[in-house]
Amino acid sequence: MTELTEAAKAYVETLFAADAGGHDVSHTLRVYRTAVFLAEHEGADPVITGLAALLHDADDIKLSPGTHASKTNAVSFLREHGVPEETVGRIVKIIEEVSFRGTDSVVPSSVEGMCVQDADRLDAIGAVGIARAFAYGGSKGRKMYDPAEPPGQALDGETYRARQSCTVNHFYEKLFLLKDMMNTGAAKRLAEDRDRFMRAFLKEFLCEWNAFIVDKENR
Ligand code: ADP
Ligand code: NI
Repeated sequence: MTELTEAAKAYVETLFAADAGGHDVSHTLRVYRTAVFLAEHEGADPVITGLAALLHDADDIKLSPGTHASKTNAVSFLREHGVPEETVGRIVKIIEEVSFRGTDSVVPSSVEGMCVQDADRLDAIGAVGIARAFAYGGSKGRKMYDPAEPPGQALDGETYRARQSCTVNHFYEKLFLLKDMMNTGAAKRLAEDRDRFMRAFLKEFLCEWNAFIVDKENR
């Protein structure tokens, strides 16, 4: 089984080689390590959790739209390595349930899925999460911030995905919501620290952005 995990790591290294917009392989490897850590705490199957974490973005809609519905990349990898169909089905289910879809997000039906979803969401918040958001926004040519664009509220999956607004809005539309969407106890504790750091960052960001205006008003 360790061999299979090593093969999955090598597979995702090649799959994500070209992407620097927040979906580079380092994201997948962090999600893998965090998910396995959470699995230990939760008594989840570490191999299923690890494989699902390694393959969770292999058919991501932004990265591989053609295989997103069928999960062909993940399924072919598992079948080629002789993984039993029942296990392939369990892993595919986890991958299908993992992603953030605004108000259409789902609570995973397995404890392994909860660990992977929490790990993926933990990587979207805190210092790394901030960096990923600005890297993603930059890769799409989006503004860091535009005070004229208000953030959306309670967006459904389709509206959330179609959003083109500034990166600061992404904090309100996704990142600040994640702390209260964690499934496992250990992830909730980690998320609280990361959420606090992120809120402090945004407060400072907005202070600096508005500094000249505030100074002028106070004179
Ligand atoms: P994940 O792999 O964590 O499910 P996504 O595929 O939704 O995340 O996005 C990859 C990274 O880019 C995440 O860190 C996410 O928060 C960030 N991101 C996604 N959409 C936006 C956006 N509209 N603006 C800024 N960052 C974004
Ligand atoms: Ni991910």
